[in-house]
This record gives sequence, C-alpha cells and structure tokens, in this order.
Amino acid sequence: MRVITTVSELKSAIKAEKAQHKTIGFVPTMGYLHEGHRALLKRARQENQMVVLSVFVNPIQFGPNEDFEAYPRDFEQDQKTASEEGVDIIFHPSVSEMYPHELSVGMTVNKRTDVLCGESRPGHFDGVATVLTKLFHLVQPDRAYFGKKDAQQVAVVDGLVNDFNFPLQIVPVDTVREQDGLAKSSRNVYLTEKERLEAPILYKSLLMAVEMIKSGEVNPERIIQEITDKIHTETSGQIDYVSILAYPNLEKIDVVEGNYIIALAVKFSKARLIDNVIIVEE
Ligand code: PAJ
Repeated sequence: MRVITTVSELKSAIKAEKAQHKTIGFVPTMGYLHEGHRALLKRARQENQMVVLSVFVNPIQFGPNEDFEAYPRDFEQDQKTASEEGVDIIFHPSVSEMYPHELSVGMTVNKRTDVLCGESRPGHFDGVATVLTKLFHLVQPDRAYFGKKDAQQVAVVDGLVNDFNFPLQIVPVDTVREQDGLAKSSRNVYLTEKERLEAPILYKSLLMAVEMIKSGEVNPERIIQEITDKIHTETSGQIDYVSILAYPNLEKIDVVEGNYIIALAVKFSKARLIDNVIIVEE
C-alpha cells in the first residue's frame, strides 16, 4: 500500500496503473474510517483490480459555523484499516495541496439542494461536487463507491457524473449500522454517553414510519408528525428536518407511494446526525 500526499505523485502513479489497463475502484472519504467506510472498500476490492482511497477533510464543504476544525482525524489508524481492506493507494493531501490558490472555477449544484441537508447547509454540496470533480480527474476511476447513509450526496453525485459525462460508474452501498441500529458515523464519537443511548431512536423512528406506511398510511405529514413526536419525547436532540421525498429526484410528494426516501437530521450537543430509509419498488 502506498501513501501519496501530492497531486504530482498521484498523477504518475495512476498513469502507471492505467498503462497496465487496470480497473480502478475509488472510495472518497474524510477519514476516521469505520465499518461504513470498510463496506465501501470491500466492495471496491471485489469489483476492481486496484483500489484507491482518499482521506481528505474538505474545508470547502463545511459552513463557517460547522465542525471543520473539530472533525475527527486519526490518519495512523486509517492507514491500518486501509491496509486490512487491501487498499493499493491512499491519497492524503494537505489542504494547500488540494487548494494551492483560491479556485477560479467551482461547481454549483442547481438541483436537489433546496431540501434535506442542502437547506440547512448552504454551499455544502457545491463543496462536495467541487472536490469530487478534482478527485475524479486525478484518480480516473472506473467505479466510485458512496454510502446510502448520505443519500442526498449519492443523488447529487449522480447528477454531477451524468451532467459532466464523467466516464465512471457510481456504486451506492447500503448503510452499515451499530447493533442497536445507529448508523455508523465518524461523528458518533461526539455523542455524550446519554446521547449515544438515545441515538438509536432515530433509526427506530424511521422503522416505525415504514410500519405505518405498510399499515396503509399514505399522508406524509401524519408520518412526519409521528417521527417528530417520537424523537422529541425519547431524545434530547433538536430536529433539523424530517422529510419524505420522491427518490432519487428528491421532489416533494403529497402521497407516499412509488419510490421514496424518509430522511432526518437531528442535532445533539456536539454532533449532527443524519439517517434515512429508501423504499424502492421491486
Ligand atoms: P465521509 O463522511 O467520510 O464518507 C465517506 C463515504 O462513506 C460516503 O460515501 C458515505 O456515505 C460513506 N459512509 C459513511 N457512513 C456510512 C455508513 N454507516 N454506511 C455506509 N456508508 C457510509 O461523505 C464524505 O465523507 C464526503 O462528503 C466526501 C464524499 C469524501 C467528499 O468530501
């Protein structure tokens, strides 16, 4: 496994691999790797001759009052995890290596950003689309792996890849959870002991919603109200949003049917957690 920190070294490493016609699977991350990231790496390892992992906490996708500085980092541990998962190259650039000067061109995401996390994190998906544009150009993957935990990110990246004709396939991977149902997240370490015990309620409230729908409820407002009540009563978190939208276009729906996503974001004292369930007709 090679650790690469500069753009020029990465370019020559990828050129050498491409010369041998190897297929490249790419897993972009911000590090502090957990089982969720491992699932993406495993899938990439199965489907490609070469696996590239990026570990880069991307400042331009964080708002001014968000947790860029406090975002958890442990590159030593990430290297161990990566080598256990059979990664060939870890790209771990500094901020100045990725952004040596103010960008003269940036990506702007026009669709799907006025809902869910886009609403409360203005500019977030522009930052994600911009860094991924750079990373896709550098790594030139055949496939790039993304977790469905960040379902809006998957939808936005699909739009990026389609609109700009990136020659790669986006592979969405199921959310990996703790035994009690809490979605694995690098930010879970910032939950207090009490909050950690409450946090599984988020997923439980989504499962409750799925049950309501199975029992015939089709009114999104009533389902959203039940989820909201459960989270208010059983946790100390502040709800950022609870939404039910068509999937994958993330448009508003009046009747719950077809393909849809039930998604939520809840703020605890030091961590904002997101989760969702996606229901797709067979
Ligand atoms: P990060 O939060 O590190 O996540 C990297 C990838 O891991 C994302 O595709 C995310 O959806 C996936 N992931 C996180 N938790 C998961 C879980 N519990 N189960 C399955 N997959 C999970 O997302 C980012 O970084 C950044 O926005 C990035 C795409 C790297 C751009 O900077």
